[in-house]
Amino acid sequence: MKTIIISIAMGISAVGFNNTSEESTGKEIFEKNCAKCHGKDGTKRLLGAKNLQISVLTATENYEIIANGKGKMPSWKEKLSTEQINQVIEYLDILKQKTKE
Ligand code: HEC
Repeated sequence: MKTIIISIAMGISAVGFNNTSEESTGKEIFEKNCAKCHGKDGTKRLLGAKNLQISVLTATENYEIIANGKGKMPSWKEKLSTEQINQVIEYLDILKQKTKE
């Protein structure tokens, strides 16, 4: 019985750890590359950057803008891999949840 409980507990902590590491990678990419215009929480609007907490774009539209740039927003496809762009897009969803907190 004890073994079962321990393995369940380990399973839960493994899942928890995965979530955190995914969040921190997207977060790191965002804070390193995007925060100077969008702010760490996505609400800064340097050079007319959009408030990302209230952005209503789909993941595909976000991908287009991040990869190719738009207006004063630089293009990132030379600097970030497809995977990194997807991670940063996932982090945008985490930022949006912060408005509801
Ligand atoms: C040099 C400043 C700058 C940096 C750095 C920057 N952005 Fe932007 N971003 C902008 C500007 C300006 C716009 C508005 C573009 C427009 O609509 O003309 C924008 C728009 C966006 C949009 C569209 C939001 C909407 O609702 O229309 C997304 C998504 C976005 N940025 C994500 C990012 C991500 C992710 C990064 C980092 C990889 C990043 N940006 C880095 C300036 C920047």
